[in-house]
Amino acid sequence: MHTLHSISAFRAARRLLTGPVGLVPTMGYLHEGHLSLVRRAKAENDHVAVWIFVNPTQFGPHEDFTRYPRDEARDAALLAAEGVDLLFMPPVEAIYPEGFGTEVVVHGVTEGLEGAIRPGHFTGVATVVTKFFNIVQPDRAYFGQKDGQQTVMIRKLVLDLNLPVQVVVCPTVREPDGLAMSSRNVYLGGLERAAAPVLHRALQRAESLWRNGERDATVLREAMRAVLAQEPLAQPDYISVADPLTLAEIAGRAPARGALAYLAVRLGATRLIDNVVLE
Ligand code: PAJ
Repeated sequence: MHTLHSISAFRAARRLLTGPVGLVPTMGYLHEGHLSLVRRAKAENDHVAVWIFVNPTQFGPHEDFTRYPRDEARDAALLAAEGVDLLFMPPVEAIYPEGFGTEVVVHGVTEGLEGAIRPGHFTGVATVVTKFFNIVQPDRAYFGQKDGQQTVMIRKLVLDLNLPVQVVVCPTVREPDGLAMSSRNVYLGGLERAAAPVLHRALQRAESLWRNGERDATVLREAMRAVLAQEPLAQPDYISVADPLTLAEIAGRAPARGALAYLAVRLGATRLIDNVVLE
């Protein structure tokens, strides 16, 4: 595995690769969810590139950019063991040099859910993803369903701007008790960690109602609210049943193409998100 820190060094290494390249973009502090994307990329491409970059522009002023967990040595060892070809870990100044002044804004799908609570977040993600697609020039890029709104936005970005990349969305990897793996799970205290599987239980409730034919979005949302209410530590930011393509909140009956059940819940000072596709 070659580890590169500058754009010019990365480009030189990239030029030597022949055959399809799969890209896995991450902010590091890797877990099995990230590694599942790496394995899928490895299976579907001749080469795999991983980027680790804690992107400052997608964090709000009061969010956790400075204390976001990092462990570059451990991450590099995990990726080398998976047979990754190129690891790109640029410093912030390489990606946002002085005078940087361009943003990529995806409208519509970024306005609800996380977008409503984290203004500017998705513009930061869309801008950095566009930059990395231009630097890496991958054939395919791998993203997790865990960040469902992010995947919908990136598909739209690729479609709207004709980016020559195939977006592959991979299933959410969970802990044995159902908690979706996340670099931010390390923030959870003992009681919060014990309460955290309630998100998955609420989503499973929506899934089981859906399987039994329930299509009324209000009924599905209320069922998830009732499960979350059983856990006193859990403070929901939103409980959503949205159109899977537009992410517009569904008012009545879900359309035939299905729905996305989406939750954001605060447990103490930590915010968790999770979602399931209903189809
Ligand atoms: P990060 O949170 O590090 O996640 C990197 C990728 O791993 C994302 O596509 C995310 O959806 C996926 N992922 C995280 N947890 C997962 C899980 N439990 N199961 C499956 N996949 C999971 O998402 C970002 O970084 C950033 O926004 C980024 C796209 C890198 C842009 O900065």
